[in-house]
Parts: sequence; C-alpha cells; structure tokens
Amino acid sequence: MHDKTEKPALKTVELFDDDVQRNPFSTYSALLSNAPLAMDSRYGNYVLTRYEDVRMLADNVWLSATDGVDPAGRFPPGTYPDIERTDPPRHRRLRALLLKPFSARTTATWHDDVRKIFDEYFERIETDRFDVVDAICYPAPADVICSIMGFPAERRADYRRWSRALMNRLGQSLSDDDRNALIEMARFMREQVVERRAKPTPDLLSSLIEAEVDGEQLSDDELVAHGVFLLAAGHETTTNLLSSIVFLFTKHPELYARLYADRDGIETFVEEALRLEAPIQSICRTTLEERDIHGSRIPEDARVLFSLGASGRDSAQFTEPDDIDLERRNCARHLAFGYGSHLCLGAPLARLEARLFVEGLLDRFASIRATGDEERWTSTVVRGFHHLVVHVERRQ
Ligand code: HEM
Repeated sequence: MHDKTEKPALKTVELFDDDVQRNPFSTYSALLSNAPLAMDSRYGNYVLTRYEDVRMLADNVWLSATDGVDPAGRFPPGTYPDIERTDPPRHRRLRALLLKPFSARTTATWHDDVRKIFDEYFERIETDRFDVVDAICYPAPADVICSIMGFPAERRADYRRWSRALMNRLGQSLSDDDRNALIEMARFMREQVVERRAKPTPDLLSSLIEAEVDGEQLSDDELVAHGVFLLAAGHETTTNLLSSIVFLFTKHPELYARLYADRDGIETFVEEALRLEAPIQSICRTTLEERDIHGSRIPEDARVLFSLGASGRDSAQFTEPDDIDLERRNCARHLAFGYGSHLCLGAPLARLEARLFVEGLLDRFASIRATGDEERWTSTVVRGFHHLVVHVERRQ
C-alpha cells in the first residue's frame, strides 16, 4: 500500500474524448513536451508518450501482458489467452511456434500470391469514385490472412463484422451486437479446429494443431484463441495502414508524383506512414513492481498506457516529426509494430502488403483526391478509416 505522500501529482489527460481520438496529435505534443508521465482521466492509466519511455515495453520484469492491452480495463478472467496476453516463459514457446510461418523468409515466398490478390481487387474497380476501404483496403488483406490460415474467403463479410467487434471492444464497453459477433467468431473458429483435426489441410491452422509447445499440443481453447487473434491481427491493422496511406496521398499529391517517378522511395514512405499514423496507437500493460519515472511513482499492479502513436512524433527521436521525409535515415525505428518480446510477428507481411498496395495505386492512378466522404475510427487504440471515398484519375 502507498500512503498519500507517495502518490504522484500527475497531469491528467483526456485521451478518450471523440475529437482527441480522431485527432490526438496536439494532445500528444503537449504530453511529449510538458507531461512525459500523465494519467488518463477516464480509466486511470498511467500514460507514457516519449520514444525512450515507450521502449520500456520491452521490460518483462516490470510489465505483464496477461491482463491484456485494452486501455479500458483488464481482460475478463475465464477467456483463453492468446500470444499477446502471455508472459515469458510460456510466451517464448508460443512465439517459437509462430516465428517460422511469419518470418521474413516465409513472407517473401508469398509475394506473388499476395500481389495476385491485390491485383484482382484493383481490376474490379470500375468507377473513378469509390470507397477505397470497401474496394481494397479491407478485402485484400482479409483474403491474404484467410489463405494463410485456410479460412473460407467467402465469409469475408462475417470476418469484417467479427474483427470490428474485437477492435470496438478496445477502449470502450461492448455493445450487444459486438458481444454476439464475438460469440459467433469463437463458434466459427471452434468448427474450423474440429474440421482440421478430422481432416488436416496445408494451412497455418492445421500446422498449429499439430505443433507442440513444451512437449504438449495446444488445447482446442488455445487454438480458438489464436485463430481469433491471427484472423483479426492479420487484416484489421493492415486495412487501417492502407487507408491511412491513401489519406496521406490525398494530402500530399507531390509525394505521390515523386514516388511514381522514383519507386525506391516506397519502402521509406510506408515506414513514415506507420510512424505518423500508427494503426495501433496505444498498448497497455500491468506493472509487476513499482517504478519511479519522471519524478513520480508508478505502483505495482497499475495499468500503463504506452502511446505508440505519440512516440512516432517525438522530436528527440525524429527530426521534424510531423513531416513525411523520404530521406529519413531512422525511418524504420518507429514503434508502430510494438517493441520487445511482443514485437509484431506480422510486420514483414504488413510491409509486403503495403508496398504492393502502393505499387498498385501508382501503376493505375495518375492522381487520388479526397472527396470529403469519409469516416474515421473513433478510438484510442485503432487509427484508420471505416470509409474513405476517393476520386481517381486513371493513367492512360
Ligand atoms: C500494419 C499492420 C500491423 C500493425 C500496425 C501491427 C501492430 C502490432 C503491435 C503494435 C503488436 C504488439 C502488441 C503488444 O505489444 O501487445 C503486434 C503484435 C502481433 N501482431 Fe501485428 N500488426 C500488424 C499486422 C499484423 C499481421 C499482418 C499479422 C499476421 C497475422 C500480425 C500478427 C501479430 C502477432 C501474432 C502479434 C503478437 C506477437 C506477440 O505477442 O508475441 N500483425 N502487432
């Protein structure tokens, strides 16, 4: 227990206000300059924003992931933990199962298949004005993860509903529709596991069923938890990155023209998009022991929100952090994929999809304009668009 004198007199910050969620950058800037450790006024999370502080995510002695990453509260007990909600040593073993299937080397072998999926969606666009989220940003990454996992692509509309329910859960209370969607998703995943056990197919779900951790196979509950996690993690985040990329192109037509002339800049541009518009803006952890940070004490068993989004705007790490700089040398050092032992396993795949998406846009469209018809996620965790209607000029 801590007496009153030990309690930190921290600035509070409203991170859950709708306007702040849609445009958090001036709030981040104030925190970065004046309140490197703050407290969120809605849920009482300690908030860290500076790049060096967010890298404390790697400290497994101080932090635990088992209560989940949701800034709105701890994960309810009784659900089976996926890899993201596991601490070492079990986490290391689970991760070993997934390292190979998502390694940069394995991902490179998917290049042609992923490209084919993206090309097909581009070819289906018949009008010059369309919702780019519905047309490509959502369905193409969804098809990619379905083909890796071996899930039927025809149920894409269900996956969208389910994954959105999972993401909606973060940072707010769950609606009845979302709760039902999550029950349906778990039921679907259980059916998939039962089918694969009876008749294995050459896909990641079957490999997970056969794999062993600590000489044991994953239970059905663990398989369901990982199926749900991989399906959602595998596309919703990428969808948001792709829609943010289009948004950045509509804001910076000169950059779009430059990339058309010099495609070597695409990789740096994708890193800049990740840094500036991190699709996962924040990640929470629970403290295993107390720590003094920036003159205040964070007690044991507290929740700490690490702002990946703010860390990308830290001028101590990135000069002129609000600008897109295709010459930026440390462009890939952003924390949009997290940091430490839980670093995103799908990063090589997400980068591949983003690059092929940008190439596809550049090949087909001479310009992309915003129409003003758009809807952003209103979330402290998720950044990107539900809808983004654009007007394109096709190349002759
Ligand atoms: C732009 C796209 C993506 C972004 C921004 C992103 C972001 C993240 C972040 C921030 C984490 C760390 C979570 C934490 O520390 O608690 C993470 C973990 C993870 N991501 Fe991604 N992700 C993306 C795409 C993908 C894809 C395509 C997959 C493939 C299925 C994937 C699979 C995973 C897995 C398995 C983990 C958990 C790793 C662990 O706990 O050890 N992600 N991701």
